[in-house]
Amino acid sequence: MSLFISFEGGEGSGKSTQAETLHKRLVDEHYQSLLLHEPGSTPLGRHMRDLLKGRPWGGETISHGAELFMFTAARAELVAKVIKPLMRQQRGIIIADRYADSTIAYQGYGRRMPIEELVTVNHLATQGVLPDLTFLLDCAPEEGLKRVGELQTVLPLEIADEALGGRVDREGTTRFEEESIDFHERIRVGYLKLAEQEPERFRIIDAAKSIEKIAEQIWSIVSEKLPGPSDAGPPELKLEFPA
Ligand code: TYD
Repeated sequence: MSLFISFEGGEGSGKSTQAETLHKRLVDEHYQSLLLHEPGSTPLGRHMRDLLKGRPWGGETISHGAELFMFTAARAELVAKVIKPLMRQQRGIIIADRYADSTIAYQGYGRRMPIEELVTVNHLATQGVLPDLTFLLDCAPEEGLKRVGELQTVLPLEIADEALGGRVDREGTTRFEEESIDFHERIRVGYLKLAEQEPERFRIIDAAKSIEKIAEQIWSIVSEKLPGPSDAGPPELKLEFPA
């Protein structure tokens, strides 16, 4: 069988750390696990990521519509080339660091684009493929932004960029971080609404707890859903794209 798990949350919520920790633990326990990051994880996705994080238009901002389609283009590619083929083969555990809920939270609640229309766009991009389980790392935006800010002021630009998963643009700021607290508050509220609408799929995690405590909580939830470790094949699934 395959299991599809996504991680969601606002800026600095620690979801990438938790996605990575879960992936490593699964590999250690001999499960086939693949960690994906949106946007990214395919050649097209990486281009989209570079375009979104840099400002190749000489400082010009991207329109909200274009931004939406760049994120969802990367997602469509990821679903078609990676997620669906793995699901068809019933192989492994797929962990996505962000997925379709990010679009509803950021473009819908954050940018105030019409939610119903975003649901349709998401549906086209994902071909209806939804995670079995979604961890929402919830924290006050002030806390999350403080964490991201601390990383950026403490570390040199290139290292901060790596620590933040390639989100620092050429001016040294991340795409959504310059937005108002109100923008981030709306994203938080949006995520919590999504979780309320789909309680079967979502697990809300208090992101203020320690990394270790959160990792244990996540592991106890995931381990209940795991099949026995696969006997066949290497434990770590590798993406078949050139780096
Ligand atoms: P990312 O590098 O993934 O950082 P994070 O660690 O926060 O995930 O940044 C991607 C940014 O893009 C992040 O601020 C959320 C935003 N985003 C959207 O606005 N819509 C989307 O559909 C996705 C996937 C991400």
